[in-house]
Amino acid sequence: MLKPLIGNGLLTSEGSFWLRQRRLSQPAFTKEKINTYSVAIRHVISEIISEWKPRVEQNLPINVTKETYTIALRVVTTTLFLSTIKHQEEKLRLNIYSIMEKIMFRAHRAIPLPFWLPLLKHLSERRAIREVLNYINKIIDERRLMKSTETNDDLLNMLMNVKDIDTGEKMSNEQLRDEIVTLFIAGFETTAVTLAYTLLLLAQHPKIKDTLLDELKLTLKGEQPNMENIQRATYLDAVIKESLRLYPAAWQISRRPMIKENLGNIRIPAYSGIMIPIFALHRNPIYWQNPEKFIPERWIKDGKTIDPEPFTYLPFGAGQRICIGERFAIVEIKFALVLIFNHFNLAPIPVEPIELDTLITLKPQKEISLVFVQK
Ligand code: HEM
Repeated sequence: MLKPLIGNGLLTSEGSFWLRQRRLSQPAFTKEKINTYSVAIRHVISEIISEWKPRVEQNLPINVTKETYTIALRVVTTTLFLSTIKHQEEKLRLNIYSIMEKIMFRAHRAIPLPFWLPLLKHLSERRAIREVLNYINKIIDERRLMKSTETNDDLLNMLMNVKDIDTGEKMSNEQLRDEIVTLFIAGFETTAVTLAYTLLLLAQHPKIKDTLLDELKLTLKGEQPNMENIQRATYLDAVIKESLRLYPAAWQISRRPMIKENLGNIRIPAYSGIMIPIFALHRNPIYWQNPEKFIPERWIKDGKTIDPEPFTYLPFGAGQRICIGERFAIVEIKFALVLIFNHFNLAPIPVEPIELDTLITLKPQKEISLVFVQK
């Protein structure tokens, strides 16, 4: 379903091609590399949050759904191509959103209509895909024309120059485009909604929010977040873990076994489609006490965050296809929360169930708006 948009990128490719691409992309996500991007990540987030000030001063709500999208989109474009796309941000966001919605609509049909059928819906989806791909192609073309001395230490540069150990080959333009669009699609909406859910949960649970603010005051002392000091904030880590448990942005993943398998008493024929319902797993009372409740403390023992039982908690998947951007996403979300709470407090709201849309990512049906208070 995603192929028309992300072609043969990491998310959709398989077998030896996937393995080669994963090996080529992996060095772009090491701790050291994320440290390099962290300066840009902090700068981008600070810039967006500073724009909230006039609304906060007038006690007007902030549209958290929209703002977290802007944060995630600007962070991903800045780290991918060291360029922001302020003038095109809204267009790109809407294009990607409409593509995802249409893909999901097609996926949920009992008999999906072939995408080549020239229906109005398909044509507008194709147009949106073309616009996104043209945008990425243009950036790659511009970068190819740059001299090596002029290029930046960004993800695109990294992916452009990385060589296959066996063949010495670099990625073609097409491969590069597929990988860039994949990182874009896989990386921005998941991170945006996770940040939005976390803020919403903190507004609904003011005591937990206050405990978090106390911790940040004690461990970061109003400093700008960096890769070193965010490690000290254990409760921050627990809050994000718990938010991802209740609202895993990638709420289900699928697999197709190449050979027949037995799972307990269940026989799984070769090539059958299997869904792994991460959302349900994370709320299963066999593994979690009070599964519906937001309790960050469940993640802390002796002042340290703890690991869950194996395979009971899969917000980033597991095994060899585990999310390549996990560390990137967590750093971004931590930076965003610290920077937001350096400036603002969050007004409490009643705990109400969140109506969810099970699109490719798990999204709140209604936009989230929250009131922040100047500190
Ligand atoms: C909170 C944010 C995120 C969540 C919840 C998330 C979740 C996931 C999950 C569950 C998978 C596994 C899919 C499967 O097994 O079928 C995955 C894969 C992937 N994610 Fe993430 N992700 C997040 C952020 C990111 C970011 C920031 C990036 C990149 C910048 C990224 C890039 C990818 C890629 C490329 C894959 C495919 C990996 C492969 O198959 O080799 N993700 N993600």
